[in-house]
Amino acid sequence: MSDPQQSASTPASGGPLHPVPTDAPAPVIHKGLVGVPVDYTAISMVNSDTNSLLYRGYPVQQLAAHCSVEQVALLLWDGELPSPEHLAAFEAVERADRALAPNVRRAIDDLPLTAHPMDVCRTAVSIIGASDPDAEDPSPEQNLRKAQHLFAQLPAIVAYDQRRRHGLPPLEPRSDLSYPENFLYLTLGAVPEPEVVDAFRVSLILYAEHSFNASTFAARVITSTLADIYSAVTGAIGALKGALHGGANEEVMRTFGQIGTPDQVEGWLEDTLAHKRKVMGFGHRVYKHGDSRVPTMHAAMVTMLEHYHRPDLLEMYDLLEAGMAERTGIKPNVDYPTGPAYHVMGFDTETFTPIFVAARVVGWTAHVREQTASNALIRPLSVYTGYEQRAVPE
Ligand code: COA
Repeated sequence: MSDPQQSASTPASGGPLHPVPTDAPAPVIHKGLVGVPVDYTAISMVNSDTNSLLYRGYPVQQLAAHCSVEQVALLLWDGELPSPEHLAAFEAVERADRALAPNVRRAIDDLPLTAHPMDVCRTAVSIIGASDPDAEDPSPEQNLRKAQHLFAQLPAIVAYDQRRRHGLPPLEPRSDLSYPENFLYLTLGAVPEPEVVDAFRVSLILYAEHSFNASTFAARVITSTLADIYSAVTGAIGALKGALHGGANEEVMRTFGQIGTPDQVEGWLEDTLAHKRKVMGFGHRVYKHGDSRVPTMHAAMVTMLEHYHRPDLLEMYDLLEAGMAERTGIKPNVDYPTGPAYHVMGFDTETFTPIFVAARVVGWTAHVREQTASNALIRPLSVYTGYEQRAVPE
């Protein structure tokens, strides 16, 4: 990483720079906000020492083992697992709210087929927000309604876009299906076998929330200005798109495509590391001894690769993981097993991050509500290293 003082001392066009006083204590810059706690949250806890992740106090592995996506969503929004009556009432509302409005469909149709599905998702959420007469009402009740509306709508957005890119007609949502079943049906045209639905359910739960990650923080920054929840989610989608964040799950599949066959893994890895390129799906800002979500997602992925008879992919997966461990000690993050699992299920590679959006919208909106309830404008400082004040030439 370049030293800002050093690079500032050699401006491209010459001229004096703002001096850093030599007798003043050097300012401490937390580049990338590494290690900086910026607020309290009661939604989730990431413990990098124990590789654990709790949603409202519950280990995510236990939630993935025992709960539906709908139950986990209510837990994250409300703070408690729902009663059977509350769950049934929410499921009825969610199932009735799955179809896209004509103006959302038209907005998607107007986008080029080459548009990245994350751009399609971002645009569709923006249209939904612009069409909501109560968009500006930040009351807890209204924001919960909007959060639940986006949760219900996102599978249809993702599915509509994947199908139009394949020249397939859109399907109408089915209210007799659970959230993950309907998501798979809308995209693929059929409800797959229960073990596929279950692996997908697990992935959605693991993706639902992860404390102050970049996209959640972006949502909180936007909320802190008193902008509406749709603006916060739209901004969060933009942050999630990047390859260092949610976009990594797509890059994992592209990596496998580049490598080609298991016997090419070693050479590819050597070349990649020699050129100081990152291997997507590995490493994490917070977890340095392994991502808490990986064992659960790894098990779901192995089931999927066996189900779809892809031992070649599993072999590449294992070889790349072993090679990274041997050469760098860097461990996989959750995007590494998720990429191949979504691939064999039948999702397009570019659709992987939009699936992440559909899951993470729960966490984002829970954070929007928490930020709104205890707000302070998020506005950090910077240390200026540019030119001293100077006059515009007359
Ligand atoms: N492949 C190769 N090297 C990696 C790496 C990866 N995936 N992740 C980290 N490193 C190396 C860096 O090159 C750096 O090496 P250096 O000290 O010799 O320069 C060192 O490890 C520290 O990496 P850095 O990127 O500064 O750490 P970070 O805490 O900021 O990074 C990530 C966290 C997630 C951004 C980083 O691990 C990464 O880019 N991973 C790939 C993208 C990805 O999978 N993102 C999804 C995250 S859930």
